[in-house]
Amino acid sequence: MIETNRRSFVLGLAAASATITGASAQAQTGAAVLPTLNSSTMATDVTYWDAVRKLYAVSPSIVNLENGYWGIMAESVRLDYLAKTDMVNRENSFYARTQFGRDAEAARLAVAAAVGAAPAEVALTRGATEALQLLIGGYNKLQPGDTVLYSDLDYDSMQYAMNWLKERRGVNVVKFSIPEPASRAAVLQTYQKVLADHPKAALLLVTHVSHRTGLVMPVAEIAAMARARGVDVVLDAAHSWGQIDFKVQDLGVDFIGFNLHKWIGAPLGIGFMYVAKSRLADIDRAMGDEDWAPTDIRSRVHTGTYNFASVLALPGALALHQQIGPRAKALRLRHLRDYWVSRVRDFKGLEILTPDEPGMAAGITSFRLAGKGTAADNNAIVAQLRDQFGVFTVRRAGVAKGQCIRVSPAIYTSEADLDRLVQGLRAVTSA
Ligand SMILES: Cc1ncc(COP(=O)(O)O)c(C=O)c1O
Repeated sequence: MIETNRRSFVLGLAAASATITGASAQAQTGAAVLPTLNSSTMATDVTYWDAVRKLYAVSPSIVNLENGYWGIMAESVRLDYLAKTDMVNRENSFYARTQFGRDAEAARLAVAAAVGAAPAEVALTRGATEALQLLIGGYNKLQPGDTVLYSDLDYDSMQYAMNWLKERRGVNVVKFSIPEPASRAAVLQTYQKVLADHPKAALLLVTHVSHRTGLVMPVAEIAAMARARGVDVVLDAAHSWGQIDFKVQDLGVDFIGFNLHKWIGAPLGIGFMYVAKSRLADIDRAMGDEDWAPTDIRSRVHTGTYNFASVLALPGALALHQQIGPRAKALRLRHLRDYWVSRVRDFKGLEILTPDEPGMAAGITSFRLAGKGTAADNNAIVAQLRDQFGVFTVRRAGVAKGQCIRVSPAIYTSEADLDRLVQGLRAVTSA
């Protein structure tokens, strides 16, 4: 796809995208009509968040507190995506071969600017999985006998990729557990110790926001510790950007995989890879890509033909994200988490798996009933919350101390939605 664009003959196609009309005009810019946000009460400004809620068409059939899987598009983005799908279908290869390269480049540049990266540091992917597998598999500095490290909270398929490095690169693979209950000090101590205990460590996988518990890792501190020992970090930021407000330079990490279809609200099937400019040579080209120069980060991803419309709708999604406000979104999501957690923290036997400490939780937080760490235990609670209280959550496995249930509100979630969860948890814990 990319190759065809590089070779494209410029025909001055009468702007295929200009044929998109009506509903998508607003959608293309992502602009929505929102009231002015009260800057001193960003997280709780009722007028503002009511207006944000109206940007989304959400099924009334359930209170969906499982928005960590992916984030639905706002209506403006959805309409834009549909219009772009129609345009691509109508214009077919004529559009794809003559204009998509230019439009994809605009989307890539918009992502780079928003995340604070240089254009040379960003390549679009179909999601975080693609980006992270290419980073872990393509990291070419490992020598046989080196050690690679990851934790119980890291994402399953990234754990698989780290395990596979044993076959691929002849390294030793070490898995460790994040302490529970977690605190910033305990987490830092754990990373400090695991790095000290493994002097041959060369690569460390860190997950910015855990999809299992919601724990937010103090990435900058961990990355600085690793750097001091000559250990590179691959960061799984699948859940962080959009849920937390940051720029890449805040993290001090050279290799990062991101999603855009979770907390940014882009269509499904889009994410990106970040590689610090000076480190590109340390990641192999994707399956020997020859479309792009080895010095171009786009040679590190070779997706083939993918969903053009998801890329085309990305600038609108990003614009809306910026308009709602990355900081406001982060504060709102943390407020929603604090709202339900503060109301259930004293319920008998309920363990909350993220600490209240600033910076250690965002919008996602999981809970477990003491002694109930099996799949069956947690499935039963998920079913009770769903069937008796109309609240949808999800069981998460893989946490060293036992399975748990994840609660992930969205920016359209209201406090009243969370009251339903609190009511359900009261019943579950008093049974
Ligand atoms: C922590 C983490 N990493 C990576 C991924 C993979 O993201 P995707 O399936 O969108 O590629 C996910 C998805 O839920 C995740 O939670």
